[in-house]
Amino acid sequence: MVAVAILAAGRGTRMKSSLPKVLHSLGGRSLVERVLESCLEISPTRRLVIIGYQADQVKTAMHSTSDLEFVEQHEQLGTGHAIQQLLPYLEGFTGDLLVLNGDVPLLRPQTLKHLLQTHQEHQNAATLLTAQLPNPQGYGRVFCNGQNIIKQIVEDRDCTAAQKQNRRINAGVYCFRWSDLAQVLPKLQANNDQQEYYLTDVVNLLEPVMAVDVEDYQEILGINDREQLATAYEILQKRVKSEWMAAGVTLIDPASITIDDTVQLQPDVIIEPQTHLRGNTEIQSGCRIGPGSLIENSQLGENVTVMYSVVMNSIVHAGAQIGPYSHLRGHVEVGSNCRVGNFVELKKTILGDRTNVAHLSYLGDATVGNRVNIGAGTITANYDGVNKHPTQIGDRTKTGVNSVLVAPIKLGADVTIAAGSAVTEDVPDDCLVIARARQVVKPGWRLKTRDEE
Ligand code: UD1
Ligand code: CA
Repeated sequence: MVAVAILAAGRGTRMKSSLPKVLHSLGGRSLVERVLESCLEISPTRRLVIIGYQADQVKTAMHSTSDLEFVEQHEQLGTGHAIQQLLPYLEGFTGDLLVLNGDVPLLRPQTLKHLLQTHQEHQNAATLLTAQLPNPQGYGRVFCNGQNIIKQIVEDRDCTAAQKQNRRINAGVYCFRWSDLAQVLPKLQANNDQQEYYLTDVVNLLEPVMAVDVEDYQEILGINDREQLATAYEILQKRVKSEWMAAGVTLIDPASITIDDTVQLQPDVIIEPQTHLRGNTEIQSGCRIGPGSLIENSQLGENVTVMYSVVMNSIVHAGAQIGPYSHLRGHVEVGSNCRVGNFVELKKTILGDRTNVAHLSYLGDATVGNRVNIGAGTITANYDGVNKHPTQIGDRTKTGVNSVLVAPIKLGADVTIAAGSAVTEDVPDDCLVIARARQVVKPGWRLKTRDEE
C-alpha cells in the first residue's frame, strides 16, 4: 500500500508572483498537476496535498482532480513541519509514504516506480532519490557510505566550504515506511540557519536510509524561479520532440517548434518551422503543418496541409488545404478535400466535402454543402449588432465575388449568385440571383475640367 504526499504549502518567494508557485503553468499544466501525474504508475491508494500559502486558490485550481485529500499547514515552518501535519490523517496507516516536492515537475513515472521497488526490496526505513549534479548549488547535499546508505543531509546554506564540494544532492523525493517515520517526526528540531523543521533531518533518526541516484538528473530539477521554469519547459519540449521523431514524425528546425505533451501525432506527419501544437490536438498521418502555424485543440484527418494559419477548436477532414493566412476561430468543421485559402476567417461553420473558400472571405454561423464554391470576398453578415444569425448554403452553389449574404438566410442547391450581390432573401434551388443596382451608362458624359468652366 502506498500513499503519496505532495508538499505544496510554500509560497515560492523567488517566483515573485501573486500566484502560488505550484500553480504556475508548465506547457499547459500546473507544476502540481505534473507532479501528480508522475505518480500514476505506482497507483497510490491515497493522495494527500499539503497546502498553506493561498490554500483556497490551490484547492480551487485542483477541484477537478478526484480523490485528493487536502491537508492544511497553517504556518510554513519547514518541510519536516509540513509532513508532521499528516500524523492525524495517516494514523494507523501501515504502508509506505512517497513524499514529493510540489515544485519538481519533470520526474518520469518509471523513476518513481524504481525508487519504490528499491525501497521495498531492501526493506529500508527510507529511500531517497539523489542525483549527481554538475552544479549542485542551492540543493541539500547527501553524504553516504560506500553502500549508498545515507549518513547525513546538509542544506546548501548550512554547508561548510568542504561540504559544498559534494555534488550528490537530495532531489526532494522520498519513500518512507510510514510507521517508522511517524515515530520520529515529533522529534525534529529547528536548529539550522532557517530555524525550520527539515524533513531531511529524519535521516539521522531512521535506519537504514538508502540513496538511489536518478539516471537523468534533469528529471529532478526543482522550480524556484522563472528562469528554472523556462529551463524546465525547454527540457520538456526536448523530451516530447525526441519521442515524436523516434515515432516517425519529421520536425524541420525542431528548436523553432513547440508541441504540448497532450498532442497526438501519427507517423509521416511533417511539422515545418515556427509551428506550435497545443492542447488536445490530434494529427493523422501524411499531414504537413506549417511553416508558421498554430493548431490548438483540433483534429486533422490524413493528408491535410496547413500553412501560415491558426486553427483553434476545429475539425479538418482528410485532404483539406488550409492557408496561407487562414483563421479557423473555433467550432469549425472542414470537409474532406476542401480548400480554405488565402485570408479566410471561419467561425462556427461547417463546410461539406470538396467545397472551396479560396480567397478573402468571412463565414460565421454558416452551414455549407458539398462542392460549393464561395467566391472571393464573400462575407456572411451574420451579426445585426445584437444577435448572431445562421446562413445555409446548398450543394454546388456558387457565390460571386464580393457577395454579401445577410443572415438569417438560406440558399438552395445549384444556386448562382452574381458578383457584388447583397442577398437578403432566401433563394430556392436552381436559381440565378442578381441582387445589385443595374449599371447605368451615360454616353457623351464626362467631368468638366476647370479650363472648360
Ligand atoms: C528542499 C530540501 C533539499 C532538496 C530540495 C530539492 C529540505 C529541508 N530541503 O529544499 O534538501 O535538495 O528541496 O528540491 O527539505 N514546503 C511546504 N511547507 C513548508 C516548506 C516548504 O509545503 O513549510 C514545500 C514547498 O512548497 C515546496 C517544497 O516543500 O514545494 C520544498 O520547499 P523549498 O523551500 O523549495 O525547499 P528547498 O529549499 O528547495
Ligand atoms: Ca525547492
